[in-house]
Amino acid sequence: MSRLKIAMLASECYPFAKIGGLADVVSGLSRALHAAGHEVIIILPKYAVLDAEQHGLRPFISPLSVWMGDTQEWCATYTTTYGGIPVYFIEFERYFGRPGLYNDAEFHNYPDNAWRFGFFTRAALQLCHEIGFAPDIVHAHDWQTALAPAYLKLWHWNDPVLGGAASVLTIHNLAHQGRYPADAYAYLGLQAANFTAEKFEEFGELNCLKGGLYYADLATTVSPTYARETRTPSGANGFAPFLARKGDHYLGIVNGVDYEQWNPASDHYLPNHFSPHALVGKATLKLALQRRVQLEPNADIPLIGVVSRLVEQKGLDLLAEALEAIMRAMLVQFVILGTGEKNLEWYFGPLPERYPGRIGSYIGYSEELAHWIVAGADFFLMPSYFEPCGLNQIYALKYGTLPIVRATGGLDDTVRQYDEASGAGTGFKFVEPSARSVYDTVGWAVSTYYDRKPHLRQLMATAMHEDFSWAQQVKAYVAAYEQAMTNKRAL
Ligand code: ADP
Ligand code: GLC
Repeated sequence: MSRLKIAMLASECYPFAKIGGLADVVSGLSRALHAAGHEVIIILPKYAVLDAEQHGLRPFISPLSVWMGDTQEWCATYTTTYGGIPVYFIEFERYFGRPGLYNDAEFHNYPDNAWRFGFFTRAALQLCHEIGFAPDIVHAHDWQTALAPAYLKLWHWNDPVLGGAASVLTIHNLAHQGRYPADAYAYLGLQAANFTAEKFEEFGELNCLKGGLYYADLATTVSPTYARETRTPSGANGFAPFLARKGDHYLGIVNGVDYEQWNPASDHYLPNHFSPHALVGKATLKLALQRRVQLEPNADIPLIGVVSRLVEQKGLDLLAEALEAIMRAMLVQFVILGTGEKNLEWYFGPLPERYPGRIGSYIGYSEELAHWIVAGADFFLMPSYFEPCGLNQIYALKYGTLPIVRATGGLDDTVRQYDEASGAGTGFKFVEPSARSVYDTVGWAVSTYYDRKPHLRQLMATAMHEDFSWAQQVKAYVAAYEQAMTNKRAL
C-alpha cells in the first residue's frame, strides 16, 4: 500500500469544534489514517468559541490572500498539532467571529452560511497551495466543504501543487444541502455558466452539496443502508437522481469510533471503570448517574438514556408522544441530554418536574454527562426517522448499554436484532416510525430486563465485544481514496 497524502477539510473536528458526529468522524478517521502511515493534515475554521490557548494555536501564514469571485479577501491562519497531525485554522473575523458554528442562539441558520463556508473552503485550498502540500486526496465533508471538488476542477486543475489531487466528498446528512439564495453564487466564484440545474442551481437557488457532488471524483456516505436509502426518492431529500448519476462512485462506509475516547475500561470522564468480565463498575456508575440527575437510586429499575441533538431527524417527538403511556405502564426511568430546537427543549426540559425521581433531563451540551449516560444507563434510545450512521448507539454497545433503535440507515447496520429464542443480537429494533412502535419496543426491552435476565447478560456481552474501531473502517476509506484517484486519472 502506498503512503497517501490527504487534506481533510471540515467544519467540525473533535476536540476543536463539535456539534455532532461529524466532529468525531473527522477526528477519528484522521487519526486512524495517520496511525496507518498516511500523511494527513486537517483544516478548520477558527471559530470564536474555539479556545486557542487550550489547544496551543500558533500564528501561521498571515495574511493569506483568497480570491472570491472578483473580491480579494485577506485572512489569517493558525496551526497546532493533534496526535501528531498538523491542524490548520482559517481566521476571518467577519465570518467566524460569532458565537455559533452554523446558527444563532435561537437556532436560526446564519443567512450568510454559503459565503462563510465557501470562503473557508477556498481559503483552505489556498493554504495547501501556499505551504506546498500536494495532496493525493482532498477529503471534503458535508455541504460546508462540498465546494472543494468544484474549486479543484475549476481553479486548480493546472496548479503544480493541487492539480494532481483527487476529491472525495462524504455526505454525513442529506437533510443539510447548503441551499441559499442565488446571490451568494457570484461571490463563490464558480463561474456563471455552471449555475445550471445539473450543477449548482435548484429552483432558482444555490445548492452547494449538489454542485460539489457533481464535481467529486468519488462520493461516500456513512453507512451502506443510508447509501441504499438515498438512492430511493423517499429517502434522498430530492437527491436520488444526482446520486444515481454517480453510479458506483457513491458508496456507504460505516463510521468507525474512537475507542480511546469511548471505552468503559479507561474512559477519563468516569469515576470508575468496567469491562465485559467485571461489570460491577457499571452498576456503581448507574447509581452514581441516578443520583447525579436526581433519579431514585435503584439498581433494579431499568434506566433508558438519550443523548441527542434535539432536531426533527432524531424522532424524539415519537418518544414525547409515547412517554405518558410508557410512564403509566412500565416501571422504568429516563435520562435525557440534548439541545437544539426550542419546542423540543421546552418539552424535555421540564419533564423531571412532572415525573420526579423517574425522569432526569438536562438541556445543554455536556461531554461528561454524555459519557456518564452512555456508560451508566441500561438502554440507549434512538428513534430516528433517518440516521445516516449514528455514533451514540455504537458507543453504547461498547458499554453494554443496549440500543433501542429504529431500523434505518446506520442504526440498522450497526445494531443486531435481539432474538428471543436464542438470546442472540445486540439491541432492539423497530421499523415503523410511530409512537406505538416506540412504546412497544421500549416495552420489549423493559420486559427483557425484568423477565429474561440471562438474555440481558448475553446481549450485553455480545454488544461489548462488537468492534467498530477506526482501525477496521479505515481500510474501506483507503480503498475509496484509491478508487477516487483512479477515477480522476480516467478523466
Ligand atoms: P449526529 O451527528 O446526527 O448528531 P451522531 O450519533 O453521529 O449524531 O453523533 C452525535 C454526537 O454528538 C455524539 O458524540 C454525542 O455524544 C454528541 N452529542 C449530541 N448531543 C450532545 C449533547 N447535548 N451533549 C454532549 N454530547 C452530545
Ligand atoms: C451526521 C448524521 C449522523 C452521523 C454523523 C457522522 O450528523 O446525522 O447519523 O453519524 O453525521 O457521520
